[in-house]
Amino acid sequence: MHDDPQTHPDYTAHYSREATRAPEALDAFWMPFSANRQFKSAPRLMASASGMFYRTVDGREVLDGTGGLWCCNAGHARPRIVQAVQQQIATLDFAPTFQMGHPLPFTLAERLSAIAPGHLNHVFFTNSGSESVDTALKIALAYHRARGEGQRTRLIGREKGYHGVGFGGISVGGLPNNRKFFGSLLPGVDHLRHTLDLQRNAFSRGLPEHGAELADDLERLVLLHDASTIAAVIVEPVAGSAGVVLPPKGYLKRLREICDKHGILLIFDEVITGFGRVGKAFAAQRFDVMPDMITTAKGLTNGCVPMGAVFVSDAIHDAFMHGPGNMIELFHGYTYSGHPLACAAALATLDTYAEEGLFEQAITLEERWADAIHGLRDLPNVIDIRNIGLIGAIELAPRPGAPGTRAYDVFTRCFHEENLLIRVTGDVIALSPPLILTEAHIDRIFRTLAHVIAETA
Ligand SMILES: Cc1ncc(COP(=O)(O)O)c(C=O)c1O
Repeated sequence: MHDDPQTHPDYTAHYSREATRAPEALDAFWMPFSANRQFKSAPRLMASASGMFYRTVDGREVLDGTGGLWCCNAGHARPRIVQAVQQQIATLDFAPTFQMGHPLPFTLAERLSAIAPGHLNHVFFTNSGSESVDTALKIALAYHRARGEGQRTRLIGREKGYHGVGFGGISVGGLPNNRKFFGSLLPGVDHLRHTLDLQRNAFSRGLPEHGAELADDLERLVLLHDASTIAAVIVEPVAGSAGVVLPPKGYLKRLREICDKHGILLIFDEVITGFGRVGKAFAAQRFDVMPDMITTAKGLTNGCVPMGAVFVSDAIHDAFMHGPGNMIELFHGYTYSGHPLACAAALATLDTYAEEGLFEQAITLEERWADAIHGLRDLPNVIDIRNIGLIGAIELAPRPGAPGTRAYDVFTRCFHEENLLIRVTGDVIALSPPLILTEAHIDRIFRTLAHVIAETA
């Protein structure tokens, strides 16, 4: 039967009231990647958001220095995106994409391939960065098998890498806490050394000078395992979760050359660098290095509906398109791959990015951003500052015996006393504001950080 919305009561007031006031109980929600007991003893709850600002349940306007969680590149509650999602939910709430379809993911994939670098003309949709990573790893394995090189099963990640929380992602990832609790992980995985080198590169402005030779670590792994067993290498062009680690000048090009030499696929995990964060649609374009696949999520829908996407080269895609036409070429997918709401959000997000020139914004503001963040270098306990595009990191010396507490104190003071949202991992303060920020916002972020860092012993 057709339900006429006109005949139903308006539930809007009820749900918006629930969303904007402090809940009565906090116990049942097991929060992800959080110190649950610490948080629940002093909650930080957002009620609404608009542009560069959040509003908390206690009515404070908080400047967003983190784009939510590296997601909201166009800022919050942008009208085009809001309207597209509202319209879509009332038009087509869900339709399957297994042996069925609806127009939006086809249209979106075409739009995305038009902004992707080079020959990455095919798009596989997921719901998150973690799913994008596991999808890309599976495609890499199945690709080699489809070409008769099924013995290429080894996957190479990098120390300090973060590739989400699926078993594939934590196996190739290189953050010990994300791995050590969860058993023996995927077999046949190895890791390159990371590229963070404070001794040689501390306080680099933009890409560090030293360390291109660290890419040669791949040659070491090829010697150890033999190239014929290695399917793919996955790296973040700029690592975020490990506390912002930049690629030394020339490093990514060298990695590409070594992969080419040995027939190894190169996957860039651009879950945080995609969609304008470093001044181009993708970091691959900014650094002029062409991967075989790119994994994305977050900025794809401006964070407002969960969605990820894997960009795949023609060569990889076409290797699957053989055999009988009625055969499923890749036994992989998610119920919500190409979900109508996510597609509508992504299309409106791409329009917003284009209309406001937001992919260029991180280049336009880069010098101002770099001047402002490097202005903090002489503050007490600051041991490194890193920046590229509209990404910034300030590394603090850990307190003896209490690592992480110094940056955490800066974080809570910024939030509770200064109405500024930053993010910390360990003793690194990481910044990734919406790309709509102005010079006045930049000044406020770093003025605030300067005095909070100075006062946090
Ligand atoms: C580089 C990278 N890959 C993957 C992920 C995982 O994304 P998600 O949390 O959407 O699964 C993240 C999340 O921060 C990320 O930074």
